[in-house]
Amino acid sequence: MAHVLNNQGKSVLLVDNDKQGNLSKLFGVYQDDVESGSAKLLRGWYKSINDLRVVLPGYAGLDIIPANMSLLQATNDLTVAADADQVERFKPLLQAYPLEPEKTYDYVIIDNPPDLGLNVINALAVSDDVIVPTKVDAWALEGLDTIIDQVESMKQINNKLQFTGALVTMWQNDDANRAGLEWLHEKGYKLFNTVIWYGKAAAESTFFGKTITEYKPRSWTARDYKRFVAEYQELTGQGVR
Ligand SMILES: Nc1ncnc2c1ncn2[C@@H]1O[C@H](COP(=O)(O)OP(=O)(O)OP(=O)(O)O)[C@@H](O)[C@H]1O
Ligand SMILES: [Mg+2]
Repeated sequence: MAHVLNNQGKSVLLVDNDKQGNLSKLFGVYQDDVESGSAKLLRGWYKSINDLRVVLPGYAGLDIIPANMSLLQATNDLTVAADADQVERFKPLLQAYPLEPEKTYDYVIIDNPPDLGLNVINALAVSDDVIVPTKVDAWALEGLDTIIDQVESMKQINNKLQFTGALVTMWQNDDANRAGLEWLHEKGYKLFNTVIWYGKAAAESTFFGKTITEYKPRSWTARDYKRFVAEYQELTGQGVR
């Protein structure tokens, strides 16, 4: 998503908010022996955004705040620091353009883990849209209700927050997928019309440290991501016409 937007000429800040750091690994900025940018952001250990973000070489206007396991300790420490501000730690992201405080990124995309730890609550506190990528299997779908409920309750803190939709990924046109999708529609879940097809290129791209739209721009998966971004922009009134 970030790469598709960046290709449209948009400036994008990616925030890896998952202690596994897979996003950081994809962009070759994962380090395991330091306090990561997202951990520092949560702790407030920085003077400016420049202490947190990495400017990715080879992209104009695509920056990333990396993660690693240090995010777990930062989250735990914040959870027990009941007297500190526990939910608005990510607010500085909204004025985060490097060296130009009056300028903001066109998009800030926060990649969250599949849980609702305090680092995720902080992400929800500053977000406009929540997109939930999901496979069509029972366990993945069970989590959807929990996330939608959490988004609803977070509206008390952030009234701009909306559940934009679930994005079905790793789609294969078989009985199980079709039945699961039908079930989602019947239950009235907000879904993107676009589904991301299962494709080998997605897994392969991780070995090359490239986004799917860079690694195989003409693959089905890359095509689906472009369609998804266009749909997202239409849906949120930012359509490119
Ligand atoms: N459309 C796809 N087709 C095939 N494989 C995919 C597709 N999308 C993602 N994958 C593979 O599935 C794995 C998980 O993908 P991804 O990291 O996007 O999911 P995730 O739910 O965020 O996982 P994590 O919990 O590790 O962050 C990766 O190995 C990725 O290469
Ligand atoms: Mg992930």
